[in-house]
Amino acid sequence: MELTDALRTTGSVRAFLDESVSDEVLYAILDDARFAPSGGNRQAWHVIVVKDSLRRRALRDLYLDGWHDYIAHVLAGLVPFSPLASDEDRAAAASHRDAAIATSKPDGFPETLDQVPVMLVICADLAALAATDRDLDRYQIAGGASIYPFVWNILLAARARGLGGVMTTIATRNEPGVRDVLDIPRSHIVASIVALGHPASRATRLRRRAVEEFTTTDGFDGERFSLAN
Ligand SMILES: Cc1cc2nc3c(=O)[nH]c(=O)nc-3n(C[C@H](O)[C@H](O)[C@H](O)COP(=O)(O)O)c2cc1C
Repeated sequence: MELTDALRTTGSVRAFLDESVSDEVLYAILDDARFAPSGGNRQAWHVIVVKDSLRRRALRDLYLDGWHDYIAHVLAGLVPFSPLASDEDRAAAASHRDAAIATSKPDGFPETLDQVPVMLVICADLAALAATDRDLDRYQIAGGASIYPFVWNILLAARARGLGGVMTTIATRNEPGVRDVLDIPRSHIVASIVALGHPASRATRLRRRAVEEFTTTDGFDGERFSLAN
């Protein structure tokens, strides 16, 4: 598959065929993904392949709890988990929690996360992360840039093998629980749970903003970067 085609068509897959993925294929995916960039090339990732059904179910429960928080935000008309959320926003989301739980359906992705063909938990080694914005008095983001390209590489490498999946972060809401389930030491944080498998279907067209909508010239308020200019 052409690289540009892969970039333009690798959407999230949350429904899978009842077909397993061999350890050989998973190994090959991780073997490709490891060439991801990271700050100082410190490759802070640690991958846990979760096969045990009890641990999977415990992770599903932790994910589902976070998912209900997500839906509660949506029901409250909020951007879920915005770093700019006020105390009032948090209270508004909390007040919609019961309604969010009521939206759960037994065959939904969050409810059946424990049954995905491949479940990976991606951890990040705090001692190896390049958190260049750590000293700024604002929400910190740069450390994640040393982990999520690796996670995305997993999805691209899966795509190259006809597989699909999704990067998730909702379970980070319940990181202490995830830590307990998988014996993750304090030195590491939870970056993502990734589900992989043979797609039941694929989106034919991804919805993304046009270049002009997010690119400006010579400053944030500069002219739109557009070939029409
Ligand atoms: C950092 C990040 C976190 C995400 N977390 C979740 C998640 O917790 N659960 C989920 O179902 N999808 C998650 N996604 C997938 C996004 O929902 C998805 O990329 C986006 O809606 C675009 O959908 P598409 O890829 O199907 O076009 C996440 C994606 C990213 C990049």
